[in-house]
Amino acid sequence: MIFETVVSGGCRSYVVGCEGTCAAALIDPELSQIDRYLALAARDGLRIRYIVDTHTHADHFSAAQQLKSQLGVPVVMHRASPAPFVDLRLQGGEMLIVGNLRLQALHTPGHTIDSMCLQVEDRVFTGDTLLIGATGRTDLPTGDAAALFESLFEGVLKLDPALKVFPAHEYKGRSHSTIEQELAENPRLKVRERGAFIEMMHNLNLTMPTHITEALRTNMTGGKTVAQMLAEAAASVPFMSLGELKMCLDSGRDELIVLDVRERDAYEEGHIAGARLLPRGQLELRVNQELTDPTRRILVCCEFGRVSTLATATLRQMGFQRAVALDGGMKGWREAGHALTAGNIP
Ligand SMILES: [Fe+2]
Repeated sequence: MIFETVVSGGCRSYVVGCEGTCAAALIDPELSQIDRYLALAARDGLRIRYIVDTHTHADHFSAAQQLKSQLGVPVVMHRASPAPFVDLRLQGGEMLIVGNLRLQALHTPGHTIDSMCLQVEDRVFTGDTLLIGATGRTDLPTGDAAALFESLFEGVLKLDPALKVFPAHEYKGRSHSTIEQELAENPRLKVRERGAFIEMMHNLNLTMPTHITEALRTNMTGGKTVAQMLAEAAASVPFMSLGELKMCLDSGRDELIVLDVRERDAYEEGHIAGARLLPRGQLELRVNQELTDPTRRILVCCEFGRVSTLATATLRQMGFQRAVALDGGMKGWREAGHALTAGNIP
């Protein structure tokens, strides 16, 4: 078996490959690590055949949907998963065949209703059901402490004690443990009475993960994150530095249109001399009146440089092929001490 662990903050994802056939499965991929997975698979001579999420993640962005469209391979989750982009829905007891490897699924609800563990040869990928020295939490959507108790004590922990445990999260840098080690040392597993276990899980008082709303929105629907929207827009437009803009304006040579896409009050407080106002929210609907010549060079600015990136991408889609976004935005312009004009539209 070819095996790679990818660490991304506290998240762990795994590439599991068959040496004989070059087929591989990718377990719990994270959006920010896509290029790394592809590079690792290429380096190891592997072709990813399945993308598996052990459950609906609430604390990070799954790369499943994106990798599915990039690689054209099926996304695999438990059948209780709400995500519409899942191609293969496993039930507990079913297997995935990856070359000569058998990935055995075990339904282990508790952390979420769609949690599953996957056993392959000498190891088990426990998702957030069983962590090293801990368990997944049960206070997030579809979490259920009683179900976790069953899944652990009647499920995962009854597997071969020698199996290596590879969880979806690890915060202390340990690579793995074993079922035997967890049974002996995991403090949460010392509570073996059902009622006491449930009470313990209900009283953990954990803070909510950051980005939980966005993670659930995107992981459950296959929608894009805000960062993805911005990255896609940024990849499709050129940028101009503050210094270059200053030079262009000072020289007076370039008949550049400076388009300020902030709201009117921000514009009136201080804008670049000669800038036109066209708030982002009105861009598409007013573009025909405000920008009559699609061949003109248009410099788009906003406060921080993010909204202007989106606006520039929109303008380019609409045919303004010389639209360019200001890197650094008006905040950068002010901080550089460049001149501002206050008041109404010229
Ligand atoms: Fe999780």
